[in-house]
Amino acid sequence: MQFHVPNLPDFPWDTIAEDDALARSHPEGICDLSVGTPPDPTPDIARATLAVAANAHGYPAVWGTPALRESILAYLTFRWKAVPLQERNVAPIIGAKEFIAWLPTMAGIGEGDTVVVPEVAYPTYAVGADMVGASVVRARTPDDVRDESPVLVWINSPSNPSGHIDTLEEVKAWVDYARDKGALLASDECYGEFGWDGEPISVLDGRVNGGSVESLLGVFSLSKRSNLAGYRAGFVAGDSEIVMALVGLRKHLGMMVPTPVQETMAVLLSDQEHVEIQRERYESRRRYLSDALVKAGFTIDDSQGGLYLWATRGEDGRATTRWFAERGILVAPGDFYGEAGREHVRVALTAIDERIMAAAARIVEGVTEAPEVPEAAESSAPVEDLAPDADVPAPPAEIDLRVEEPETAEGADGLSEEAPSQEEETSASR
Ligand SMILES: Cc1ncc(COP(=O)(O)O)c(C=O)c1O
Repeated sequence: MQFHVPNLPDFPWDTIAEDDALARSHPEGICDLSVGTPPDPTPDIARATLAVAANAHGYPAVWGTPALRESILAYLTFRWKAVPLQERNVAPIIGAKEFIAWLPTMAGIGEGDTVVVPEVAYPTYAVGADMVGASVVRARTPDDVRDESPVLVWINSPSNPSGHIDTLEEVKAWVDYARDKGALLASDECYGEFGWDGEPISVLDGRVNGGSVESLLGVFSLSKRSNLAGYRAGFVAGDSEIVMALVGLRKHLGMMVPTPVQETMAVLLSDQEHVEIQRERYESRRRYLSDALVKAGFTIDDSQGGLYLWATRGEDGRATTRWFAERGILVAPGDFYGEAGREHVRVALTAIDERIMAAAARIVEGVTEAPEVPEAAESSAPVEDLAPDADVPAPPAEIDLRVEEPETAEGADGLSEEAPSQEEETSASR
C-alpha cells in the first residue's frame, strides 16, 4: 500500500538542538522561553465544570450544544463587537490548530490554488496549504499580493510571532482585499485577549466588515485565554454558509469536541474575571522581560500584543539564539516563522514567574549602563511602562511564584504539538 505523505516543512526545532542542550546545561537550569504553552493553572471554574460534566455517555454534538452556541454568541457580541449573528454562524472546533491545518482540505482547495499567509507566521497556515498542494504566498499588507488571486487569506492579530496588532484600517484593508478577490478571509484571533499597546479588532466587528460576515471566518481559541490548551477547545464564527458546510463535513469526519469540554467552554466564555487575572500575569512578565532586553541593547519590534516579544540585535537570529543559550535561556529564532524573521528572535512570555525573573536577571547580567541606542528604546513597544531599576527584578507582590513546571513541552506553537515521551524529551520536542 502506498501511503501518501504530503511534503511538509522540516521539523525546525532539531536545528536548535545544540542551543537547547547548551541552555539546559546552565547550573541554575534552563529558562525555556521558546514555546507558547500556557504555564499557569486551568481556572478552578473550568475544572469544577469538567468534573460535573464527566458523565458523558452519549456522542457529542458536532455543532455544539445549544448552551455553548449561545455562550459563544454572547461572548462575540460583548467582547468583539460582532455584527448580529445567529447560531448558524458559529461552531466549536478541537482547538484552533486543528481547524487551521484542515481548513484548506475541507474547503476543497488544491493544486494550482494560492493561499496567502502573513509574512512571518504561525507555521500551520502553510502546513494546511501544503496538505493539499496549494501554493503559499507571504504578505505583510494587501499591496504585497495585489497581483495574486488567492482562494484563502489568513490574517493573525495579535501575531504569533511578532505580536503586531492590526489596526482597524489594516483589518479592513484585508477584508476589502479578500472580498475583491473572491477569497475566503480567515482571521486567527487566538491571542485576541492579549492586547497591551493596542486593541485587537475582530474581523466580526461591523467597523471592518460593513455589517456582514459574508466570506469571513474568525478563529478563536480558549488555549491561551483560559489556560485550556490541554482540553482542545476553540470555535469558529462567521459566514453561516461556510460554517454550516464545515459542520456538515465535520459530522462525517468525526471531528467532535467532547461534551464535557463543550460544557466547560460555555462556562468560561461567560466569565472574563479569570481572563483578567491571566492578563495581569502576562503583563507583568512582559514588563520584566522587555525591560531586561532593552537594557541589554535589544530592539523590540511590534509586540503590541500577544504572548511573545519580537526582539533583535540587528544580527542573524541564530547568533542571538546562541547568545541566549549561553545564558541558559532558550528562545525561538525568527526564521522559524518565515525568512523575514531572520534577524529576530521570539521570546515567549509563557513561563512561570520564577523562570521569567531568572531569565530577566541573566539577560542584564554584566550590563553596567544603559546601551547608547536611544532609537532602539523609542521603537521598543513597552518602554514607557517598564519597571524602573529592574536590573535584578524582584517578583511583584501579587505574583504567585509557582515552582511547578508544566508537564507538557510545546502546545500548539505550530512547530510541534504533543508533549514528548520521556526518551524524546531531551532530543526533540518543541
Ligand atoms: C497563531 C496561533 N494560532 C493557533 C494556535 C493554536 O491554538 P490551539 O491551542 O487552539 O490549537 C496557536 C498556538 O500557539 C497560535 O500561536
